[in-house]
Amino acid sequence: MTTAEIYAEFAAREAHGRSPAYERLAFAVARDSEMLALLGALPPAKRQPNLLFAVVRLLGGPVEDPAAFRDYTMGNWPAVEAEMRTRATQTNEAGRCAVLLPVLAALPQPLALLEVGASAGLCLYPDRYAYRYGDRLVGSGEPVLKCEATGVAPPARLPDVVWRAGLDLNPLDVTDPADLAWLDALVWPEHEGRRARLRAAAAVAAAEPPLLVRGDLADDLPGLAAKAPAGATLVVFHTSVLYQVPALRREAFAEVVRGLPGHWIANETPDVLPYAGLPEPPGAALHSVLALDGTPLAWTLSHGQAMTWFA
Ligand SMILES: C[S@@+](CC[C@H](N)C(=O)[O-])C[C@H]1O[C@@H](n2cnc3c(N)ncnc32)[C@H](O)[C@@H]1O
Repeated sequence: MTTAEIYAEFAAREAHGRSPAYERLAFAVARDSEMLALLGALPPAKRQPNLLFAVVRLLGGPVEDPAAFRDYTMGNWPAVEAEMRTRATQTNEAGRCAVLLPVLAALPQPLALLEVGASAGLCLYPDRYAYRYGDRLVGSGEPVLKCEATGVAPPARLPDVVWRAGLDLNPLDVTDPADLAWLDALVWPEHEGRRARLRAAAAVAAAEPPLLVRGDLADDLPGLAAKAPAGATLVVFHTSVLYQVPALRREAFAEVVRGLPGHWIANETPDVLPYAGLPEPPGAALHSVLALDGTPLAWTLSHGQAMTWFA
């Protein structure tokens, strides 16, 4: 895809209905030959709309009005470009715990959680958050993660987590204001609820920071998994990570994880982690597939706000 197509597709498929501001910006960039030329000089992985818009927000630039956004971005291009070259999209969405919870709660307890592509590790605290599935409340903490669950009974109790560790190429530290500012900038402008959730989940993680290790999800996984305590069920999991990993490395990771003891939970879009015989997704929005040990179980929405289990 050309950069113009990437921005147009982002506007139509990802931002439409979810962020009017980013939809406007992305359509405007898609038609702007000068901005496209600047973006075209970046490596392909650095041209993404999410990265550009988050960097401009981080620097304090405007993202509501396409003309003001253009003026700011073109006028400050050296600073914008420098941030885009060094940063990556690392959105950390605690809400995804809501789709993991039914699987985690059904495994033999207690659990040793190992998340690959953990970002700041906010998905490593599924036992600390509360959940609202329809009118059922599970747990009593903060934030309360809302999820529309179809075809599955909400778990009766929270999992018992005795160990939590994360692996990431660039782990973020929620106790560092600069890392927290980047996580905040990655949340889309209109998503105030998600911003509040980020703050609440970051407070949970900051109170008991997880073991976060800098490393690659395939090469460094066995070493970290070996540190999990005996007597707990090892659960390696990942959500919205594999789209950032080249295809051959995804296969290498799957081979490594299949060779480990314990269980493997994946929550990824089927273009990067395919399964045979999936049913049609329940709508046009981009869905991920929740899977346990390679068996697909449910369609999920990207921030954990809904899941539809397969019949
Ligand atoms: C979009 S974030 C998702 C974070 C978290 N899993 C969540 O759902 O909130 C993807 C994360 O994967 C990490 N990542 C990408 N490639 C990786 C690799 N090869 N090894 C380890 N981490 C990787 C990125 O640094 C980033 O923090």
